[in-house]
Amino acid sequence: MNLYGSEKIRKMTSSIFQEVVDRKQAAVLKGKDVIDLSIGSPDFPPPSFVVDTLVEYSKDPERYGYTLKGISEFNEAVKYFYQQRYGVELDDENEVLQLMGSQDGLAHLATAIIDPGDYVLVPDPGYPIYEASVTIAGGLIHPMPLLAENKFLPKLNEIPENVLHKTKMMVLSYPGNPVTALADHSFFEEVIQFAKLHNILVVHDFAYSELIYDGNPQISFMSVPGAKEVGVEFNSLSKTFNMAGCRIGYVVGNRQVIDILASFKSHIDYGIFYPIQMAAVAALTSDYSFLQDQVRQYESRRDALVLGLRNSGWQVANSPATMFVWAKIPAGWKSRDFAFELIEQEGIAVVPGDAFGNQGEGYVRIAMVQPPERLTEAAERVNRFMLEHSL
Ligand SMILES: Cc1ncc(COP(=O)(O)O)c(C=O)c1O
Repeated sequence: MNLYGSEKIRKMTSSIFQEVVDRKQAAVLKGKDVIDLSIGSPDFPPPSFVVDTLVEYSKDPERYGYTLKGISEFNEAVKYFYQQRYGVELDDENEVLQLMGSQDGLAHLATAIIDPGDYVLVPDPGYPIYEASVTIAGGLIHPMPLLAENKFLPKLNEIPENVLHKTKMMVLSYPGNPVTALADHSFFEEVIQFAKLHNILVVHDFAYSELIYDGNPQISFMSVPGAKEVGVEFNSLSKTFNMAGCRIGYVVGNRQVIDILASFKSHIDYGIFYPIQMAAVAALTSDYSFLQDQVRQYESRRDALVLGLRNSGWQVANSPATMFVWAKIPAGWKSRDFAFELIEQEGIAVVPGDAFGNQGEGYVRIAMVQPPERLTEAAERVNRFMLEHSL
């Protein structure tokens, strides 16, 4: 049999991520001690009470059936969490939908909303599923450049009229991946006005809502007046409670959109394992001291990495949020050359910025998924690399 993947799947394949994996493996085979700062999977454990809840319910053989749209306790827990953490009031029956991680919703929403010929505005650089989901749906992509000189916010007035006429949806993420910048209230107000004027659905990805540092405010898009009229917000327990492999997330906001996505999902999955839902309820309704401790731990990692890199002469910007540093590389280098030489020579694995879009060229993404000592060591190796290359 001679079989190829479809045209859509061939468009989606990102060779860069695979190349990072291959080069990492090659370095390990050569005996290098690789410090892997390329993946965005939390290395911290979930809170122990979450694991206990999961174990307890898993022992009950009656909890192994389909759960469909999920249990009402989960929606109530999301409502409580949003009230407590972001001051947002939600109707748990109509404005919350359970997902198998935010990826599930982000991957499927475009297919539920977009017709061929519709444009979706996506951040460039951006988390890859934003673009891939539009490709799956057969829609058109209009990248919105996120540039340092604009504080990594898109310039909405630069989107051409002929695109706007056919735009149905825009995707934003503050703080995001790989760009870790924060947005303020007034930017979200501008987005809401713009969305109303042009009849555009706003999709805000808030997966890093609890990894925000230095006392910066955690602004949910949903907390801005008018947001529910035009948008939805995705969130999950993956990064907040380190449950990335224990798949559970949710989308909140506009009830019409929630209804459409729920109806689409009813065709493709049968819900999440009951014990995972109960573990999520325990996490979302806890006293949140876990979250404060976790922020402090990430802050000390961030400080070890950023200060260490600056000592090596690489003036990376501080990261206000997320588990990443979005680092502008020294002039004269291409992202891939820089990242691949760093793996080969010093065993430091990072992701070249162009993996996230054209505007990612000139950057690398460094994940803070190692303890501070290891990050300090990584910075020392970078120092050696810089000296060798006279940077
Ligand atoms: C910005 C962003 N959104 C969404 C996700 C998906 O996370 P999950 O599906 O685990 O909720 C990730 C995962 O890395 C991410 O970085």
